[in-house]
Amino acid sequence: MLGFFKKNKADSTIGLMTTVAAQKGSKSRFHKLRVADIRQETEDCVSVSFDVSDTTAFNFVPGQYLTFKQEINGEELRRSYSICSSPLENELRIAVKRVPEGRFSSWATNDLKVNDVLEVMPPMGNFILEPTPAQEEEYIGFAAGSGITPLLSMIKTVLQHSPKSRFTLFYGNKKTASIIFKNELEDLKDKYLGRLDIHHVLSREDQGNDLLFGRIDEARAKSLIDKLPSSILPAGYFLCGPEEMIHNVSDAIKNSGADQKKIHFELFSSDQASSKLKEEKKESSSKQNLSSVTVVLDGEKTHFEQKPNDFVLDAALAAGADIPYACKGAVCCTCRAKVLEGDVEMSMNYSLTEEEVEEGYVLSCQSMPRSSNVVMSFDD
Ligand code: FES
Repeated sequence: MLGFFKKNKADSTIGLMTTVAAQKGSKSRFHKLRVADIRQETEDCVSVSFDVSDTTAFNFVPGQYLTFKQEINGEELRRSYSICSSPLENELRIAVKRVPEGRFSSWATNDLKVNDVLEVMPPMGNFILEPTPAQEEEYIGFAAGSGITPLLSMIKTVLQHSPKSRFTLFYGNKKTASIIFKNELEDLKDKYLGRLDIHHVLSREDQGNDLLFGRIDEARAKSLIDKLPSSILPAGYFLCGPEEMIHNVSDAIKNSGADQKKIHFELFSSDQASSKLKEEKKESSSKQNLSSVTVVLDGEKTHFEQKPNDFVLDAALAAGADIPYACKGAVCCTCRAKVLEGDVEMSMNYSLTEEEVEEGYVLSCQSMPRSSNVVMSFDD
């Protein structure tokens, strides 16, 4: 059905494009990638591209992210960053914005150099847009700050690959100088005339329009949606930014009567997740019966016993299994596994789809055993 996307090195229009279906079963292993280029995008944001000429493991779907493993000051850190390039550009590029006290982001924006070699996991994630050439669709995007990163990949791919489709972007920042990819977005707007609308919403710079001056809260999101021409019937809404913005915009979209299934989002991180997590762990700390757990990774089984108030990921790592993970906060989905036997209870889930949960997939960083015997596979 989607043969157009099949990898073919000889056809330069295909680039690094793949489908989520084609990625099924691929291994979540770290690869060594050389930094090919670093661009200063804004004062506190760089974009970084990698040399992937030797591997097809890095074919990706617009919207996906890469997970990095790096030792900084003697501590291993893992972080995920969204891909900002389109697979059609035949380039793998991410953007990193420095956050206050962010150890990885400070290192990447200050110390990373061209030709450095990083440990990188192949592209992952369910926050995706897979356009096809025959489609004639309208897409709406809401981004805040570095939340533009996956949306830029989607926008470029839609414009190039689906010539009858359009994209409208609402992009929140503090001021003009902090708009990441401002010039690239303007160039796209000029190149694909009439197919990309961009509305910058600035919280600290008055552009002479009250609607575009302030944060993207629920009321503002509603007003922005209400201003869209009634002829626009979006095929999908794509939201990326901090949790509060995601909730506000989602509520506004739902209240506008849109089908909830059309709303796709990706959180930066979830403060709510970590606090709920602590509560859950405290609540369950009285249940001390041990469970016998087996995790399967690359066909290899690791057995261990664990308490019901511990998460399977932590217990598996302690038992020596090299389970893939990044955020440990229910957001990135890197630690996804399938429950083959027994029951687990997930504390939080911000990244698995309903369909995946129905199929038995769980986030191992959030899963606590709820039966005496549990078998989970990271290979399915
Ligand atoms: S490690 Fe990110 S969701 Fe589990």
